[in-house]
Amino acid sequence: MRIDVSLVPGEIAAKDVSGSVVVIIDVLRATSSIATALASGCEEVIPAESIEEAITLANGYKRSDYVLGGERRGVPVEGFDLGNSPQEYDGPRVAGKKVIMATTNGTSAINKYGIAREIFTACFLNADAVIGACEAYDDCDLVLVCAGQDGRFCMEDTLCAGLMATRIAHDKGAEMSDSAKAASLLYQQRKGSIEDELLRCDHGAYLVGIGYEQDVRYCSRNSILDVVPKVYDRRVIRRARGGPEE
Ligand code: MLT
Repeated sequence: MRIDVSLVPGEIAAKDVSGSVVVIIDVLRATSSIATALASGCEEVIPAESIEEAITLANGYKRSDYVLGGERRGVPVEGFDLGNSPQEYDGPRVAGKKVIMATTNGTSAINKYGIAREIFTACFLNADAVIGACEAYDDCDLVLVCAGQDGRFCMEDTLCAGLMATRIAHDKGAEMSDSAKAASLLYQQRKGSIEDELLRCDHGAYLVGIGYEQDVRYCSRNSILDVVPKVYDRRVIRRARGGPEE
């Protein structure tokens, strides 16, 4: 097994990952909202490329069967049921429903790697569970994709990729690419202050400035959710923990 990290979106092309396990990471906040929604009993999350696509997808379902969520510039989209605050995606709001979600960077990143052997989404909240799922695929390579912010590198996704790369390299003796080593070194240097790093990074500070400090603090919590979000047929579903055959 070799671990690679796409530090910015698109750095590793979708065509190069056909035999690999891909993990999409958008700590602030799309993959944190997805992990929370699935842990709260939502049936599936349908990631949309745009607000318009989310509305079109929603029109295909009965109103009582779905929740429409998403953001632009961090704030809820007018007319949508929920924004992108992970803790909004709790049991009473999402249990038994489809969540149709359009966020700026995260949901489109999820739709880019359709031909990979397996695709998971991860964040700090479910890091342990996704690490366990990835380690079951030790016969293939692992690509950790940082969703980034508006096409650019971002600290929070890199720290989460670094946590995952560090653990999997240790547990499985996997090799790391240069970008995986860089993410791992960054994580090891900052692992004692993840909450502060998230509060201070560009997008974290922006979210704090518009009133979402609690979201940022929540998203920094490590492995409080035992859920492995698996992308299947352009939907994100909850995968049982265990080996590749499950
Ligand atoms: C995104 O997809 O860009 C983010 O999740 C933005 C956010 O809501 O913080």
